[in-house]
Amino acid sequence: MKFFIDTANIDEIKKAASLGVLDGVTTNPSLIAREKGKFEDILKQICDIVDGPISAEVTATDYEGMLREGRAVAKLHKNIVVKCPCILPGLQATKTFFEEGIPVNMTLVFSATQAIFAAKAGARFVSPFIGRLDDISTDGMELIEQIVQIYDNYDFATEVLVASVRHPMHVVEAAMLGADICTMPYSVIEKLIQHPLTDIGLKKFLDDWEKVKGR
Ligand code: G3P
Repeated sequence: MKFFIDTANIDEIKKAASLGVLDGVTTNPSLIAREKGKFEDILKQICDIVDGPISAEVTATDYEGMLREGRAVAKLHKNIVVKCPCILPGLQATKTFFEEGIPVNMTLVFSATQAIFAAKAGARFVSPFIGRLDDISTDGMELIEQIVQIYDNYDFATEVLVASVRHPMHVVEAAMLGADICTMPYSVIEKLIQHPLTDIGLKKFLDDWEKVKGR
C-alpha cells in the first residue's frame, strides 16, 4: 500500500518525507487556501521534496476551463497529477487528458458508479472520500470494498486512492480491502506508528538498562 500525505503544508510534507514512507502528495483548493503563496510556487516546492505523484486540482467547472488549467499545472513538473471533480465535464476532461498522456486523479467520488466512469475515462487514480460518507452516516469503507471488487472484476488500471481518511482504522480497513493508496493528514501518519505499549515497554527497557550501566 502506498501512503500519500493530504496537505499543502511544506513543513508537514518535509516531516512526512523524512520518515521514508511517503509515496506522493494530494492537495485540494481548501488545503492550498490554508497556506501562504501562489498555487504554482507551492506545487513546485512540493515537487522538489517528494518524488512521486503530486495532485493539483482544477477549479474550473467547464470542460475547456479544466483543460486549460490542467495543461498549465501539468507543465510545472513531470510528477503533477491533475485532479478533476467527478462531474460530466470532469469526465470529458479526464478522457482528453488520458489521450494527451496527462495523469488524472478523479476526485469527490462518492459512489461506485462514479468510480466506474472514472476508470472508463482513463483516470490514473480515483479518490473516494470515505470520511465525508461516514459523516453522513454512510459506510465509506463499503464503497472502497465495492470499487476494489469492480476494478478487480474488469482489470481496470485505475488505482484506488482512499481519501478523506480521518483515523488509523480507515488505513487498516483500506489495506485489508486491498486499496492501492491512502492519503491522509500528517496527524494520521503520526498516529499510525504510535502505540502506548511501545512507549511503556521502551521506558521499562531503558529503566532496566540503567541498572546494567551502573555495574
Ligand atoms: O483531499 C481530499 C480529501 O482527503 C479531503 O478530506 O477530511 O476534508 O474530508 P476531508
